[in-house]
Amino acid sequence: MSGPVWYRARRNAESICRSFRGCCRVAVVLQSVVISMERSEKHTEQAGIFVPLSLVTIVATYLLIAVGALVRAAGAGLGCPDWPRCFGRWIPPTRADHLPAGFDASQFSTINTWLEYVNRLLGVVIGLLIFATLLSAWRRHRHHRHVLWPASAAFLLVGFQGWLGGQVVEQELDPNVLTLHLVVALLIVGLLLYTHLCARYSRTTVDGRRDGGEPSFDAIRGIRRLAWLVACLTLVQVTLGTRVRGVVQALEKTATPREDWLPLGWWPDLAHRQLAVVVTAAAAVLLWAVIRFAPDWRDVRTWASRVLGLTAVQIIAGLGLAYGGVPRALQVVHLSLSSLLIGAISIFLFLVYRPLSGQRS
Ligand code: HEM
Repeated sequence: MSGPVWYRARRNAESICRSFRGCCRVAVVLQSVVISMERSEKHTEQAGIFVPLSLVTIVATYLLIAVGALVRAAGAGLGCPDWPRCFGRWIPPTRADHLPAGFDASQFSTINTWLEYVNRLLGVVIGLLIFATLLSAWRRHRHHRHVLWPASAAFLLVGFQGWLGGQVVEQELDPNVLTLHLVVALLIVGLLLYTHLCARYSRTTVDGRRDGGEPSFDAIRGIRRLAWLVACLTLVQVTLGTRVRGVVQALEKTATPREDWLPLGWWPDLAHRQLAVVVTAAAAVLLWAVIRFAPDWRDVRTWASRVLGLTAVQIIAGLGLAYGGVPRALQVVHLSLSSLLIGAISIFLFLVYRPLSGQRS
């Protein structure tokens, strides 16, 4: 009898051990599930705070660029003749007879003053938003240098941009200062876009591209080079555009009717028109290369199409400016579209430089 009893006891002990091991395995699996849930929760929390905030900041910065273009087109750049106050006050007057002593009433226009004042207020809001973005980057992405550094650089630049705004007024709309003001605004947008995208796409650096198969290394290299070509050509085009704008600005002060402002027959104007065709052709080749050599890169193709679409619309707007008597509304559209184009190219560059599957940034 003793044999079967020990035999049963051993079987029982073994089965208890097996179930214990099973329990252990279950516990290990459960633990890993909990850890991965924790990780994904952490990711959602990080993305949830930083990503929308930086996106709002980007949209607000674009709005500020559009308002800045409106100020320029309306000729309201000196709507507030002093800085940082406006007609010596933090809240400007609404009527000429409310001006403080020492200001020339003939300089005052309610619309221009308030347009410039709203532009300045929006600048302050953007400054605060960029500061909040930096704080959020510091709290959530302190160890992600591709998020923290551009956010810090954007914050430093927005301070510099505030000072430049003062110089614009002090130097009475000097074209070079205005050009620098535009370039810094575009740099800020580029940095904000970069930090936003790095936080938003941080998971794809580990999990691989979200949008399917990868093209060959040679195809990626070719597409990247083409993208840089489009970016550089567009930057030269923007700089030429600001030169054309400088001349238009000088003509604004003369009695020449708007219809006679253009065509100028002057080299930056001619170069600006011809380069527009080259930029558009380069953007078309870029889109073709993406479709031909990287058909599975869906988001890359989308942004290549947007870059091409924006250059085409810019040409139409430019023609409207050149042959339609430089309408104010088109001045705003042309400048705003330029900033959108620079943004689209920055996004494209970011997308084609994302690390490949399994490769960390
Ligand atoms: C890729 C295409 C183009 C880009 C990226 C571009 C960009 C620009 C930029 C950034 C400015 C300066 C705006 C400012 O500072 O207020 C500008 C001004 C100007 N552009 Fe273009 N442009 C393009 C095509 C064209 C074309 C095809 C024409 C004419 C046929 C044109 C005509 C003008 C004119 C007349 C101005 C002066 C407008 C003003 O004073 O507000 N542009 N452009």
